[in-house]
Amino acid sequence: MSHPETDTELPPHILIFPLPLQGHVNSMLNLAELLCLSGLHVTILLSNYAHNRLLRHASLRSLFSRHSGFRVATFSDGLPADHPRAGERLMDLAFSLKELGGSQFRRLMESTDGLSDGGARRGVSCLIIDGLLSFIISVVEEMGIPYIYFRTIGACSFWPHFCIQEIIDAGEVPLKGKNEDKLTYWKKKEMDMMVTSVPGMEKVLRRRDIPRSFGVANGDDPTFKTMKTDTKRTVEACGLILNTFEDLEAPILDQIRKHIPNLYSIGPIHALLKDRLESEGMESSHNYSSSLWEEDRSCIAWLDSQPTCSVIYVSFGSITTLTRDELLEFWYGLVNSGHKFLWVMRPDSISGNGNEIPVELEEGTKSRGWMVGWVPQQEVLAHPAIGAFFTHSGWNSTIESIAIGLPMLCWPYFADQMTNSRFVSEVWKVGLDMKDTCDRITVEKMVKEAMDVRRDEFSKRAHNMAMLARKAISEGGTSYLNLNRLIEFLKSTVS
Ligand code: UDX
Repeated sequence: MSHPETDTELPPHILIFPLPLQGHVNSMLNLAELLCLSGLHVTILLSNYAHNRLLRHASLRSLFSRHSGFRVATFSDGLPADHPRAGERLMDLAFSLKELGGSQFRRLMESTDGLSDGGARRGVSCLIIDGLLSFIISVVEEMGIPYIYFRTIGACSFWPHFCIQEIIDAGEVPLKGKNEDKLTYWKKKEMDMMVTSVPGMEKVLRRRDIPRSFGVANGDDPTFKTMKTDTKRTVEACGLILNTFEDLEAPILDQIRKHIPNLYSIGPIHALLKDRLESEGMESSHNYSSSLWEEDRSCIAWLDSQPTCSVIYVSFGSITTLTRDELLEFWYGLVNSGHKFLWVMRPDSISGNGNEIPVELEEGTKSRGWMVGWVPQQEVLAHPAIGAFFTHSGWNSTIESIAIGLPMLCWPYFADQMTNSRFVSEVWKVGLDMKDTCDRITVEKMVKEAMDVRRDEFSKRAHNMAMLARKAISEGGTSYLNLNRLIEFLKSTVS
């Protein structure tokens, strides 16, 4: 609620609402900090679960001390603290958020003093909302507050999401039969046919490169429905923020601009933030962690003892779960490749019964690699001992790898990752796409290819891409200017 007597002297107040998951919180926290640096007041709305973990494992407290304009508001995601928020249980969070998050958000926005800090901040001038939280839009619209969407995916996957209806109308969604298992579905010949209904992507996108939820249960899948509605509703917002940069995805960004002209590509956002903090002389006090898990720094000491480019870094992000069989195929493939590996194995990484890491695998790893629960990923990617990144192609991991110029070996798990990995291998040509296979022989072959046979070729292109990323965030670069444009827009919401 606003306090008209003081409002005019106060900076705009931006409320940022990310989906409370690692891959969404980190980039939106980076944005929060960038906005604070420009003198705006920012409140970030987090689930108690994410907030508590950020307080415990990340540098949230130092963020308060760096920026007097930074605040956190919290809500309950409705799940017990020990409820898995990964793999197949992810949908529990989505449903609970929709159910509970919406009403809590309304109460927060309608309370007289909910976000105004006793009059020290004006009422919310503009919202920056995670593009997957469109269920709160009705409240925002009722209150007449302008809002911008932030999608934590790349343009290359936002665009097919935006064109879902066209893909369905063209009959290009490969349908998964009700009782069909994953492997049979993957192996269908029609999965290799090109998708022709996404303008600008006709030569690159195969059916197996679009999210699988497009084809499950004939479009009745709830994830699919949410994606479809949420993505289309982007046109109703005042703009769209993407953590990408023009030189990486210009042709697709141009396609999106035809529908959403107010598009802010401000990536790689973590690098943009680092630069701005350094230019404010804040680098020494800053620890960049926004981790929801405790970072095990033993891996850095281990990497320090390894030769240059000798280690493959393996991480499948914060949501992926592996079956025991998949885990063993990866492990044998890695070991047989002869390369050392640093492997992130979250405590909740293994799905199904008996979800602890098999003893033989843990023991066998000791001479060949290092396995930890969570790492400071950006530091790991920048470490000279790392030669390539074996990734699930989450967008944050992809853009972090691109920013540092590291070749990738991709094993996409779901959603946007299917498209990201295709772009890594076929458009940017900075790595390999291993989608839809998971056997030790393929893993071994592809690790060797990424680390030995084609490493120079991939590294050269990745290095060039990293230079372009740097150009984008430097003074006068596209991401640099787009952030300034965004800040100007946010300031204009109170004039
Ligand atoms: C998911 C989707 O996969 C992604 O495509 C979407 O854009 C956001 O939500 P996630 O699966 O967790 O995210 O992957 P990713 O986007 O790569 O995000 C993981 C983040 O965790 C990265 O920023 C990475 O640096 C960080 N991380 C991962 C760590 O800090 N330490 C680790 O050990 C592993």
